[in-house]
Amino acid sequence: MRRAYRGELLHFLRDPRKPGAGPAFEHVPDGLLLVEDGKILAAGPAKTLTRGLSKSVPVRRFGDALLIPGFVDCHVHFPQIDMIASYGEQLLDWLTRHAYPAEARFSDEAHARKASAFFLDELLRNGTTTALVFATSHPHSADALFAAAHRRRMRLVCGKVLMDRNAPKALLDTARSAYRDSQALMRRWHGKGRLSYAVTPRFAPTSSDCQLKVAQRLLEEAPDAYLHTHLSENVREVEWVRALFPGRDYFGVYESYGFARRKAVFAHCVQLSASEWGRLGASGSSAAFCPSSNLFLGSGLFDLELSARHGARVGIGTDIGAGTSLSLLRNLDEAYKVSQLRGRALPPLVAFYLATLGGAEALDLDGSIGSFLPGRDADFIALDWKSTPLLRYRARTARTLEDRLFLLMMLGDDRSVRATVVAGDVAHEAPSHGA
Ligand code: GUN
Ligand code: ZN
Repeated sequence: MRRAYRGELLHFLRDPRKPGAGPAFEHVPDGLLLVEDGKILAAGPAKTLTRGLSKSVPVRRFGDALLIPGFVDCHVHFPQIDMIASYGEQLLDWLTRHAYPAEARFSDEAHARKASAFFLDELLRNGTTTALVFATSHPHSADALFAAAHRRRMRLVCGKVLMDRNAPKALLDTARSAYRDSQALMRRWHGKGRLSYAVTPRFAPTSSDCQLKVAQRLLEEAPDAYLHTHLSENVREVEWVRALFPGRDYFGVYESYGFARRKAVFAHCVQLSASEWGRLGASGSSAAFCPSSNLFLGSGLFDLELSARHGARVGIGTDIGAGTSLSLLRNLDEAYKVSQLRGRALPPLVAFYLATLGGAEALDLDGSIGSFLPGRDADFIALDWKSTPLLRYRARTARTLEDRLFLLMMLGDDRSVRATVVAGDVAHEAPSHGA
């Protein structure tokens, strides 16, 4: 079935920070997206594309909304939606006091199913069409999220958490059960529809040497699966890792288990040394920059400049529940401020690249999502430039595309998402714009 969507189009073809042949992005003020069987058939000026279009093809008009590829959330914990905005602690105490008790409640399958549905509907309401997601250590929590994502036809990567030490008993698995459960989940979900599996050791301190070797074995047996974990977020955490694994730096611990690879995504990377950044970049691994979380937990300031210098692929992670918003727009606002504290502004075009194609590249999914190139999945969003009185008021003096994008990332939020389209179908529509 062929369909068309009309509005202002913007998508990236490459990282705008890097020199390259041809433009880094395409911007079409009055554009058309032609979609067939859930994929992009063509994207370009409405004037040209409507000329050859059969009258039977329905055209959905989004007026002056901005159509961009769906946001990509490169690191988020769906069970922590239950305890987002919990007061007071920094990472290690926050885990003990808030995150672990919330995750323990996912022993209840019905609770896991309910939270999965709520979480995915919230992603769509915020314009996020793809995410790399931590479940809990209970295998059925990953089952619940995969099943809910499959029903919504979303492209999603998830994994059961591996953790067999240094955490409450109720959450601990073992090296043996981690292997068995991850393997069974992978057989059930990896490559099913638009889903992929991530082997997900929580972080080095909560997995024994034996369990980290199990993770290594799982990845050797399924080389196209993901590795998803946390790295170098907080000073006390880094000291703890040094005490637990003497003689290696934090990234070195992961290197010794074969985790430095393509399709490995390391969340945070706030306290990494230049040597670790160099090895991370050279290995083809990716980093998730989680600005809202890093500010909320007082973890530190991600160094976007250093990550780029070392060629690391970087996407944005909301890291709910340490992050305080599922909105990538809200997280770009925080990313801008983190960059300012590092002495540099974050250009809006770079920010929107990071939230779309950059995230897709970080997840090694840029052949499927992240742009409007023909054959890519038709996952996109319609963003309202004037979704609040303040945006409407302030927009009067915004002249260039960059001006307008900057307002959207600094002042926009879930209210800016007029519609979210997944595999060619409208999956969410803001109530005032409904049929
Ligand atoms: N490190 C290990 N587990 C977690 C978690 O749940 N959230 C964050 N932000 N960091 C972690
Ligand atoms: Zn996290």
